[in-house]
Amino acid sequence: MAHIAPSILSADFTKLGEELRRLSCMGVKYVHIDIMDGNFVPNITFGYNMVSALAPLKGDMIFDVHLMINNPHFYIEQFAKAGSDFITVHIEACEDVPQCLSLIRESGKLAGVSIKPNTAASELAPYLGMFDLCLVMTVEPGFGGQSMIEPCLSKIEEIKSMLRERDLPDILYSVDGGVTLENAAKTAQSGADIIVAGNALYSSADMEKRFAELSEKVKEK
Ligand code: DX5
Ligand code: ZN
Repeated sequence: MAHIAPSILSADFTKLGEELRRLSCMGVKYVHIDIMDGNFVPNITFGYNMVSALAPLKGDMIFDVHLMINNPHFYIEQFAKAGSDFITVHIEACEDVPQCLSLIRESGKLAGVSIKPNTAASELAPYLGMFDLCLVMTVEPGFGGQSMIEPCLSKIEEIKSMLRERDLPDILYSVDGGVTLENAAKTAQSGADIIVAGNALYSSADMEKRFAELSEKVKEK
């Protein structure tokens, strides 16, 4: 069963505390938190202080922190201390990918890698076994509300087969960008465990109902 991970990038920033409480009541397992630096991507969101302010409200939920920042190694420790559970870095943004991944694991967090739509799955080959999660971007990172680039979904199967070929255990897969009611089932069938949803949830007048509808679509993979 795949899970819908609400992306608070699309939530009302004046009410993030209330939003976390609402997500918790809805039975959300993963909260997706987009960190953007205005450098790796052309947009700025928030930093580790925001994660740390929200952390006391997370209850049983998992903070899935997606770092869209250059030189993430400078900040991994702060994000870990702030209460992140999963920390994902972009291979395109790291000077030294193995170093970043081991910093995340050494901090006791689950280590994720992400690839942009134009980055081939094969670029991950040198790092297999060093990460626990792969976040496949299905839009250009930077903004919510874009349309999904569906061919990117096949990267999950490619990564799974690279891991199988090397006798490495399977990992978690996340899909991020342009998820809608129409493509959610296909996204789950592509092998995603965690399906990020921003606009699809928050553009709905009844977000809780939309979460239930999306969750229903991804129940069986
Ligand atoms: C985009 C972010 C996404 C974003 C997805 O750069 O990484 O997490 O919130 O938003 P939607 O679901 O609106 O495409
Ligand atoms: Zn994201």
